[in-house]
Amino acid sequence: MSERKAYGYFADGIVFRRMSATDRDGVQSFFDDMGAESAAFFNVDHGNEKRVMAFFENGKTDHVFWVAEAGNVIVGLAFIWDVDSRVPWFGVAVRDGWQGKHIGSGMVRSVCEICRKEGRGGILLRTAESNFRARTLYERCGFENIGLHPSGELLYLKRFEL
Ligand SMILES: CC(C)(COP(=O)(O)OP(=O)(O)OC[C@H]1O[C@@H](n2cnc3c(N)ncnc32)[C@H](O)[C@@H]1OP(=O)(O)O)[C@@H](O)C(=O)NCCC(=O)NCCS
Repeated sequence: MSERKAYGYFADGIVFRRMSATDRDGVQSFFDDMGAESAAFFNVDHGNEKRVMAFFENGKTDHVFWVAEAGNVIVGLAFIWDVDSRVPWFGVAVRDGWQGKHIGSGMVRSVCEICRKEGRGGILLRTAESNFRARTLYERCGFENIGLHPSGELLYLKRFEL
């Protein structure tokens, strides 16, 4: 069963599922098509591109990756890392041209639901202070700004109820 059916936060036609080895070209195209604004927030120095593409080289077992798919186009990417921690880190991006259609909030809510059901304590993330779209999204999904990360970005935490 796709996780879309399990979690149901997406519009019809969007499938949310774990990323698999066959997604390599689709994920590369997701990064190749990323515009400057999204890259400035999500892919500085190609950091997240290297992180995600490493999955196809070595499985990147300290991470879990998901994709949102429309037809055969990957329109969203989400992942957690430090997966052995009770409070893993989280990252998310939506393909340019597909933003503002609740794919990002669907992925945030789905990953929160998955992590909560796994018995984790919460999720951490950081984002640029100027990334108002992401901040609004995280705050609407129950994340709380708990201060500054040493990088200068804002640190957000979502705690799961026991
Ligand atoms: C941030 C991002 C993941 C949000 O995903 P999205 O699918 O575009 O957002 P959604 O459609 O789910 O919007 C969720 C909420 O965000 C807010 N939002 C969306 N677009 C916004 C905008 N242009 N300005 C301000 N708030 C906005 C709204 O509160 C919206 O809820 P509403 O439509 O019910 O009011 C996506 O825009 C993205 O990938 N941006 C570039 C990469 C990035 O910044 N990643 C996060 C790095 S920390």
